[in-house]
Amino acid sequence: MRTRPLKVALLGCGVVGSEVARIMTTHASDLAARIGAPVELAGVAVRRPSKVREGIDPALITTDATALVKRGDIDVVIEVIGGIEPARTLITSAFEHGASVVSANKALLAEDGATLYAAAEEHGKDLYFEAAVAGAIPLIRPLRESLAGDKVNRVLGIVNGTTNFILDKMDSSGAGYSEALDEATALGYAEADPTADVEGFDAAAKAAILAGIAFHTRVRLDDVYREGLTDVSAADIASAKRMGCTVKLLAICERAADGKSVTARVHPAMIPLSHPLASVREAYNAVFVEAEAAGQLMFYGPGAGGSPTASAVLGDLVAVCRNRLAESTGPGESAYTQLPVSPMGDVVTRYHISLDVADKPGVLAQVATVFAEHGVSIDTVRQQGRQDGNGEASLVVVTHRAPDAALSGTVEALRKLDTVRGVASIMRVEGE
Ligand code: HSE
Repeated sequence: MRTRPLKVALLGCGVVGSEVARIMTTHASDLAARIGAPVELAGVAVRRPSKVREGIDPALITTDATALVKRGDIDVVIEVIGGIEPARTLITSAFEHGASVVSANKALLAEDGATLYAAAEEHGKDLYFEAAVAGAIPLIRPLRESLAGDKVNRVLGIVNGTTNFILDKMDSSGAGYSEALDEATALGYAEADPTADVEGFDAAAKAAILAGIAFHTRVRLDDVYREGLTDVSAADIASAKRMGCTVKLLAICERAADGKSVTARVHPAMIPLSHPLASVREAYNAVFVEAEAAGQLMFYGPGAGGSPTASAVLGDLVAVCRNRLAESTGPGESAYTQLPVSPMGDVVTRYHISLDVADKPGVLAQVATVFAEHGVSIDTVRQQGRQDGNGEASLVVVTHRAPDAALSGTVEALRKLDTVRGVASIMRVEGE
């Protein structure tokens, strides 16, 4: 074993960074044996230097992250700061100054992964980011390496724990969205400002990363269609149950049937209880991958939190250190297919539409005609008269597969009918 240690700079020492530092210390001899050389924490860049950080030598703490990555003797920079800047400048600077990089930064990879990959390639260094998607779950490496010989056609996943916790609560207790969010906040699953999670931004960044890797093309955050779960009601969950389904916030990345384009989207969807993703409870994540030769694969586990995310970071650290000792690099960007990302209107799926309609003769026929005129075929219709005697009924229509643009046209036309008093909800049905 080499005795000269590989030097590691840690950028960020919050929930994940402090756990990375702890594991590097407590598992030092195992890590050294697995790598073939010891790894040494050479510096830790933080914003608040006065904070007590148990187990970390105060002499390693600095507020000057820029100087740390430019030292010239750093082998690996671990970036767990998050956000676009200064993370992007620090990572590119790390490559320029001879380091490889392990990052957990989903926002940056989804926004501008191409710049990071290009800098890594230019300087012959590694960029690893297992922790950026679904915490501890090995997913990036299986897609980048284990499935590199296969053709992935679809990635369907629950990649946000906060929203899965909220939907699971709504499903198990009948609670409304606000009540379930309050519980998630009280238990520490949701942040004080839950926007990134509940509006689907976090999941959309992960979908962009997964789609790019799965289909060997470039997919950016802006390419991902996004709907959050704030409009999901207790009635939607109850309706899903009547259909033998549950509601999940899904990230769905698909190769088009003709193979000439891809789509990436995040939105709430009904999935059958028989689908493996339906049984993913609480704040767990799971990703279902469909590949041509491998068939269906499912990856499951904790998608967030200090220790699970640190596990993914440490796995990358070991891989990157091994590569350095072997004077090689792991996989770089693979975007050779250059498949364009199609708009949401091109996505083909099934829909569950809930309408409030006048309860009188001919209304069902009128509604059915609108669906037919837009080429959307109806699978089932369920009508329920209201008890309040106001002459209204609830109509739930489930369609066969149809393009999203056709469904949007249908709904627009339905809203114009005098007999349709309101479109209570529209939800896609997936996983069948
Ligand atoms: N906030 C995310 C979640 C974890 O709830 O899953 C970090 O991506």
